[in-house]
Amino acid sequence: MMKYFTLTLLLFICISAFGQFQPNYDESRVPDYELPELLKSEEYGKIKSVKDWEAKRRPEILALFADQMYGKIPDVPYSLDFEVQKEDIPILSGKALLKEVLITVSTVNGSLPFSLMIITPNTQGPHPCFMTINFYGNHTLLDDQNITITKAWVNNNKDFGISDNKATEVTRGVRSYRWDIESIINRGYALASIYYGEIDPDYDDGFQNGLHPLFYADGQKNPQPEEWGSIGAWAFGMSRSMDYLVTDPSIDAKKVAVMGHSRLGKTSLWAGVNDQRFALVISNDSGCGGAALSRRAYGETVGRINTAFPHWFNDNFTQYNENEPALPIDQHMLLALVAPRALYVASAVDDRWADPKGEFLSTYHTNPVYKLYGEKSINDPQMPAVDQPKMVGKTGYHVRTGGHNVTDYDWEQYMNFADKVFK
Ligand code: GCU
Repeated sequence: MMKYFTLTLLLFICISAFGQFQPNYDESRVPDYELPELLKSEEYGKIKSVKDWEAKRRPEILALFADQMYGKIPDVPYSLDFEVQKEDIPILSGKALLKEVLITVSTVNGSLPFSLMIITPNTQGPHPCFMTINFYGNHTLLDDQNITITKAWVNNNKDFGISDNKATEVTRGVRSYRWDIESIINRGYALASIYYGEIDPDYDDGFQNGLHPLFYADGQKNPQPEEWGSIGAWAFGMSRSMDYLVTDPSIDAKKVAVMGHSRLGKTSLWAGVNDQRFALVISNDSGCGGAALSRRAYGETVGRINTAFPHWFNDNFTQYNENEPALPIDQHMLLALVAPRALYVASAVDDRWADPKGEFLSTYHTNPVYKLYGEKSINDPQMPAVDQPKMVGKTGYHVRTGGHNVTDYDWEQYMNFADKVFK
């Protein structure tokens, strides 16, 4: 009897949490919506100058995203230590050099180390660089014995032979299809990457592991409703990596692009808006909570993402479950915080869950802020055709053939755009 009751209860929880969610993929059923204005605020009225944008409206919008969505970093002092563990190791038949730097973040509560892998062309630097974050460990980006295998938690994955949340030798290079490292090197770029699981394992454990406990006040057990979730912590890891990159003479620190895919595309956007040292911000298929407009509620919605992944955003964000019109922000405002720096957003036509049109529209709607800076950017509301990248001044967008992934085609566009904006 008890068993039957437990099973029924479990079934009920599953159905109410996931089963009833039917994503909308019908454009005619996208609700009418009005986006919050970029250049107008209740407190400051109309914003007419770069000075007012930078002093008033930009900080106001940034604070709303921190407070209502990604979460604030607790105000706890921390120190950083960089230990170069490997250096100048020839890889890719000598075409490139591998470096590994152990970055350790310490607070009064303890320390967290994570490994930054840097692959540079074996030519005279400094090199422009893609600063990235990955899903299964640095060693999965390239099949090379020199790359250290992560000891941190990893997601189980049958295809990769991971069943006990541990990475092994067999996982070397399993994700190399997403990282066109040879072309990146051939075109003169460096690639830097960190593994997100070393910063905060991607499951809901009430923030007992990873970076968060380092930042708890005395007696604190969980982040406050306005404090950071996992995306905030992963983004922090990208910025601490940038702290190292700016000291590395082989990297051109003025030409570093921050890039991520999917949940890590949401992360690269959040890192890129907070850390203005990133000269180019790239979102690959980041979707809901990333580049896609929340108010369209097309594909994944705020309610669904907060239910399936309660640890990604802060608790304040759950107020907007099934209530997107109440959001004081929308994702075009996040993208606009990148201005006047360069922004590239990529979608995939079959990745309807991430709402390609919503990702494009949000890119397009950043235009008023670029205009304020006197910079050109995409200013045509018509979404580009599939496989027809559009790069106008400081913004770029493409929707490519295929599904949710990072392909060589995506990388080619990122490098074409970086060539243009980094000049
Ligand atoms: C899920 C999630 C998305 C996310 C994606 C990913 O599909 O719903 O929001 O972008 O995972 O990170 O792969």
